[in-house]
Amino acid sequence: MIIKTQELTKTYRLGESIITAVNKVDLEIREATFLSIVGPSGSGKTTLLNLMGLIDRPTSGKLFFKNRDTSFLNDQERRKIRLQNIGFVLQTFNLLPTLTALENVELPMALANISSEQQKQRAVQLLEMVGLRHRLQHRPKELSTGEMQRVAIARALANNPCLILADEPTGELDSDTGHEIVNILLQLCRKYKTTVVVATHDQSIVKASHVTYSIRNGIIMRDTRC
Ligand SMILES: Nc1ncnc2c1ncn2[C@@H]1O[C@H](COP(=O)(O)OP(=O)(O)OP(=O)(O)O)[C@@H](O)[C@H]1O
Ligand SMILES: [Mg+2]
Repeated sequence: MIIKTQELTKTYRLGESIITAVNKVDLEIREATFLSIVGPSGSGKTTLLNLMGLIDRPTSGKLFFKNRDTSFLNDQERRKIRLQNIGFVLQTFNLLPTLTALENVELPMALANISSEQQKQRAVQLLEMVGLRHRLQHRPKELSTGEMQRVAIARALANNPCLILADEPTGELDSDTGHEIVNILLQLCRKYKTTVVVATHDQSIVKASHVTYSIRNGIIMRDTRC
């Protein structure tokens, strides 16, 4: 099991009121699963992904990453797990504007102390895999939105993660470009057994998923229609 949660809960206090963004979520995610999470705006999708990605800590409940209880890990240990195991893909790509496509993909490897020669070799390979061999030296503003998302996927794969967390990865893209991105994510799951968890409104992602959950007011339910 790559992720297991037990009554995972995240609340935010805003002035007088308490918002329960994620409410007692029990989830088990196996290796090589393509899982989608759907739900209206404000239902808790991003909060849940941030908990799974060890970016945020739960208010209560537990999260096991590869059967390891993450409750007692300090920030440095959480960062290490993240760097070695998890790749993030966001709706707005979050590429660094001053870096080229190649440099953006190299960055997570630099953080993991990989030699610069290896960084470059792997970054070229990854950009080739997402069909961008001809765009290595382009900066984000010199790329189309679909190309930017492909660079972001290549970057997410830099340290060979076993888990990809994608937050509305096709939200900014037209449907054809969205399909390309879905296919890349699906291939990762099929070929490399990467677990892919996608928060989305995109029906083509939902249809392609092995498992779909819906979330409403922080409460998650297995969607058996899919
Ligand atoms: N830092 C915060 N402080 C207070 N409330 C927050 C914070 N982050 C999120 N929330 C609240 O938690 C709830 C869940 O937010 P979240 O961003 O997880 O929703 P979402 O499903 O990702 O929505 P969207 O589809 O719009 O991205 C919302 O009601 C939001 O207002
Ligand atoms: Mg969100």
